[in-house]
Amino acid sequence: MKPKILMARAVFPEVIASLQQHFEVESNQDDRIFSAAELTQKLSDKDGVIATASERISAELLQACPRLKAVCNQAVGYNNIDVAAATKAGVMVTNTPDVLNETTADFGWALLMATARRVTESEHWLRAGHWKQWRYDSFLGADVHGATLGIIGMGRIGQAIARRSLGFDMQVLYHNRSRLAPELEARANNARYAGKEELLAAADHVILVLPYSKESHHTIGAAELALMKPGATLVNLARGGIVDDLALIAALRDKRIAAAGLDVFENEPALHPDFLELSNVVLTPHIASASEPTRRAMADCAAANLLAALLPTAERKWPPNLLNPEVLGRVTLS
Ligand code: GLV
Ligand code: GLV
Repeated sequence: MKPKILMARAVFPEVIASLQQHFEVESNQDDRIFSAAELTQKLSDKDGVIATASERISAELLQACPRLKAVCNQAVGYNNIDVAAATKAGVMVTNTPDVLNETTADFGWALLMATARRVTESEHWLRAGHWKQWRYDSFLGADVHGATLGIIGMGRIGQAIARRSLGFDMQVLYHNRSRLAPELEARANNARYAGKEELLAAADHVILVLPYSKESHHTIGAAELALMKPGATLVNLARGGIVDDLALIAALRDKRIAAAGLDVFENEPALHPDFLELSNVVLTPHIASASEPTRRAMADCAAANLLAALLPTAERKWPPNLLNPEVLGRVTLS
């Protein structure tokens, strides 16, 4: 009997076809988001699931689904999963790191440039028919070249963003739980470690790429925004909840910072309506990893993790991106 799995959200059809070679697959190509009760019901007879940030895998769900052995997230972030509870329940958890680093770093730059140089704001104005003449002071923005870039969260994506700053002659400050090895700092355009307060006060452009956790909740709130330069910009590529959205809305409205570029929001996709009223914010719908090759690579990566988790062989003894290796001694495969 093939193991039973749920593909919790719609995906490239080829991925479903390849999963069907190994698994009995319940798919969701209509892409309806399941309620917690529906998800629990669907997973109660499954051996594995490919999930995304929209599926919360809680301790209660894990308890109600004793057959489940693997939760494979199709995302690098995995704050939708209670990993400690999964480990306790003997459930393997995986994510899709690395395959999206460069694509996400590209998008960080797209947001930074659009925010600093008012690209979307000026386009909306043009489309609305307001452009009657060139003016010396139309849409004056902030320079990116020669400026100081502050990166909070200096993992692989943060380092890829820093590397790109070399061509813009930027100074890079970074803040992270731990300091990088000197050779990694050198490769990241000679990034210099700084305390969070020092970074916020010195940077012209701040970019957030740290994982969400209880500890990183509201890393940027009113107090942090007050430390930033009045002309500074803020980009959030990481997760909603890293920024206190209400505090940011107030800071943007009062022009306490110049502008923000946001790909993620608290309570997304229901973002705070006040964002839509502000002209000095660039808003995108959580698409930082959304290039075609990268979204395919993420889906393939999640599928490869699920295959190794549920059908291990001598060549694929365990999932390549296992987040809770402590679990290995505790899993029993039927
Ligand atoms: C996207 O947000 C991801 O975590 O991959
Ligand atoms: C602007 O368009 C210029 O020609 O300087």
